[in-house]
Amino acid sequence: MLTGAGKIAGVMGWPIAHSLSPLLHGYWLDELKIDGALVPLAVCREDFAPVIGGLRRAGFRGVNVTVPHKEAAFALAHYCDATASAAGAVNLLIFHDDGRIEGRNTDAVGLTNSLAESVGTLAGKNVVLLGAGGAARGAALALNAQDAAKVHILNRHADKAAALAQALQPLVTCELVPGGFEDWTAVAGAVSLMINSTSAGMKNNPPLALDLAALNRDAAVLDIVYNPLETELLKQARARGHVAIDGLGMLMHQAAPSFEALFGVKPKV
Ligand code: ATR
Repeated sequence: MLTGAGKIAGVMGWPIAHSLSPLLHGYWLDELKIDGALVPLAVCREDFAPVIGGLRRAGFRGVNVTVPHKEAAFALAHYCDATASAAGAVNLLIFHDDGRIEGRNTDAVGLTNSLAESVGTLAGKNVVLLGAGGAARGAALALNAQDAAKVHILNRHADKAAALAQALQPLVTCELVPGGFEDWTAVAGAVSLMINSTSAGMKNNPPLALDLAALNRDAAVLDIVYNPLETELLKQARARGHVAIDGLGMLMHQAAPSFEALFGVKPKV
């Protein structure tokens, strides 16, 4: 239900039609009988800052921010939480009454909580993380928060993995070891978890070109891609007997703290 006094927030991205956030937040709003809405906002890169200014003036409580705005949101926020500062990316902007805009990053905690739920502790364990973009950056921070011992960051273009490892190493206690996909076979046998943070396997993208035969039998496989939910990678992992974890857990665990910040009530995941 929505009245004139409803609490309004948004989710902003380009494109935005594939976003599950309005559905997820809408479900919780119904369940908790909150007078409010989370509106999908298709906003292109160039329009980001003026739209944020307009929404703030129109009384929005804040917005969830997704691709391609996470870095711009970080730059625009007046102040940020520690995770956002480390990630250099913001996925939640909160508009405060004094006119200041706060940036938070709930992606990393989403992954941390999803991992804690699905694979248990990673303390002292080795992980292979595929990709070196914004999602990989957040994932590496989440793995560090889980006390992983060593994270192999492998990227199609190895130089990007090297740059990411160099930038993040001063911020984390786990050992970051960068490499290219040609290093996959050498490291895959000794890890407890493989995370795909590349956009390979996403709808309209080719699947990941790696052979799972090299992967440690006991390793779990997590795909951050959630569209489709059952990626080719997860299908193959399941067929080989690995624990396969889709991106929905992460999505829900990052949405819960966002919902609480925007609507004032902690929802049940
Ligand atoms: P995000 O913020 O979602 O991480 P990004 O910064 O654009 O997005 O990064 C996309 C990642 O997916 C990169 O690591 C990219 O690898 P390159 O740096 O080598 O381009 C990776 N990627 C995209 N398509 C891929 C594919 N088909 N196979 C392997 N990696 C792919």
